[in-house]
Amino acid sequence: MLSEKLLEILRKRHAKLLEGGGEDKLKERHAKGLMGARERLLTLFQPNTFQEIGAYVEHSAKYFGLADKEMPSDGVVVGTGYVDGRPVAAFSQDFTVMGGSLGKMHASKIIQSMQMALKIGVPVVAFKDSSGARIQEGVDALSGYGDVFYNNVLLSGVVPQIAIIAGPCAGGASYSPALMDYIIMTRHNAYMFITGPEVIKAVSGRTTSLDEVGSAEMHATVSGNVHFIAEDDRHAIQIAKNLLSYLPSNNTEDPPHRPTPDLNLSPDPGIDALIPDTSSEPMDVKPIIHRLVDDGSFLEVHAGWAGNIVVGFARIQGIVVGILANQSTVKAGALDIDASDKGARFIRFCNAFNIPLVTLVDVPGFLPGIEQERGGIIRHGAKLLFSYSSSTVPKITVILRKAYGGSYLAMCSQEMGTDLVYAWPTAEIAVMGAEGAVNILYRKELKAAEDRRAKSTELAAEYRAQFASPYMSASRGYVTDVIEPADTRATLALALRKLLTKRELRPAKKHGGIPL
Ligand code: HXC
Repeated sequence: MLSEKLLEILRKRHAKLLEGGGEDKLKERHAKGLMGARERLLTLFQPNTFQEIGAYVEHSAKYFGLADKEMPSDGVVVGTGYVDGRPVAAFSQDFTVMGGSLGKMHASKIIQSMQMALKIGVPVVAFKDSSGARIQEGVDALSGYGDVFYNNVLLSGVVPQIAIIAGPCAGGASYSPALMDYIIMTRHNAYMFITGPEVIKAVSGRTTSLDEVGSAEMHATVSGNVHFIAEDDRHAIQIAKNLLSYLPSNNTEDPPHRPTPDLNLSPDPGIDALIPDTSSEPMDVKPIIHRLVDDGSFLEVHAGWAGNIVVGFARIQGIVVGILANQSTVKAGALDIDASDKGARFIRFCNAFNIPLVTLVDVPGFLPGIEQERGGIIRHGAKLLFSYSSSTVPKITVILRKAYGGSYLAMCSQEMGTDLVYAWPTAEIAVMGAEGAVNILYRKELKAAEDRRAKSTELAAEYRAQFASPYMSASRGYVTDVIEPADTRATLALALRKLLTKRELRPAKKHGGIPL
């Protein structure tokens, strides 16, 4: 018979752990609109599915100045639970315990959750809310970070990793989220930087602010470090759940397709009204994406950064896809350094996790400019070429309008390894833009013309009709079919179903030399 006394000890010790840094500190967090570490996990997971790992773990008292410190669970709550019926591993740093600082045992617990995720093949969700290395633990804390980074890399491409930055994330600590797949950051109370305003002032003399170097807004629109901004903790968890709903649990599984039993192949003539009369007018690609995918299913990634390319997850008649589309309302849709980085990273993620790629092309070229050239557009643009060519998931390209020169190849032409290329009748596919080509081909005629501008426009129209027509590319076998825009959704849905069994073998190698 189990004695009441033993049970009482267990219950008391457990209750103490649940308090974390204490009721007062938790109240302070609530007053700021923040959840506690445990509350975050309990909100993420379905009721009664959370199982904690290592709740009793604490630091060793040998550390400088920590002998009398109580640090429940060593400042991080770790475990597994269910999200929408699928298991997920997670950890949540507890700011009420020594500012959520990371020591050796804190790091070991994080690694335990990551190792569990690796063993059972499930995603990791990490709530980051930490003042960084626990100073009293010195090199042990530094080593702890090294262990976490190493494991982030070990898991990369095997299970999805999602970081929620919901508090401070400073210094080298920010490299753990950077090594994960997606970063969601809360708009208020969170910041992330390598060196903060004080260090920047001391080293460079320049005055700056936390917002300028580390806010969610800055990272989601300027640096590109953050993929999603959340209004608060609850919203961040909602975004994480939504994101997980498109992802397989690990790289050996297919994403959670929910194929509709009867394919609907009827046309959608409403799409025609979204196409401008001429290709010189910008065409907002987002309403087009929304018409092609299942209602409300488009989850845009990196919505605030590099808007000249749009990327995100969606379902097409139930099949999960990653979508990449040029957005001609921003920089005319030209590819620049940031757009190339954004696209390349998204492609590689989709390829690692068996998510088919649908590419919508409306690209006039790479963005011309001194800054682009000096900033290495060649190297960055090459990442896009490399990522498409090296990905083996099903790939379908639809040329909506412009598809010029190298930028078209960088948007996954047939030669770059796409499986099917469809073109709208509005497609313009050519080795270079019409105006540029005409200037080279008809230099003398243009010089002699009375109205040079009118002549150039006339010749450009002729060039487009003759050399850039989709029928020209189709006649050369570079385009699978020219389709009516109204049939695009049905065409994609049908083709995706067929491509799901695609198998493609590549030469064995350690890894390629992506131009990083
Ligand atoms: C140990 C720490 C700590 C740390 C804070 N605390 N930072 N304990 N190591 N790094 C403790 C505080 O003493 C306090 O304990 C509690 O956490 C809450 O901290 P406060 O300062 O009271 O909170 P707040 O005013 O909200 O300020 C939060 C903060 C500030 C802005 C994050 O604490 C701060 O600047 N901390 C130092 C950040 C930092 O420099 N970290 C080290 C980075 S070195 P009590 O007992 O009073 O509640 C690093 C290298 C990693 O991270 C390299 C990896 C590659």
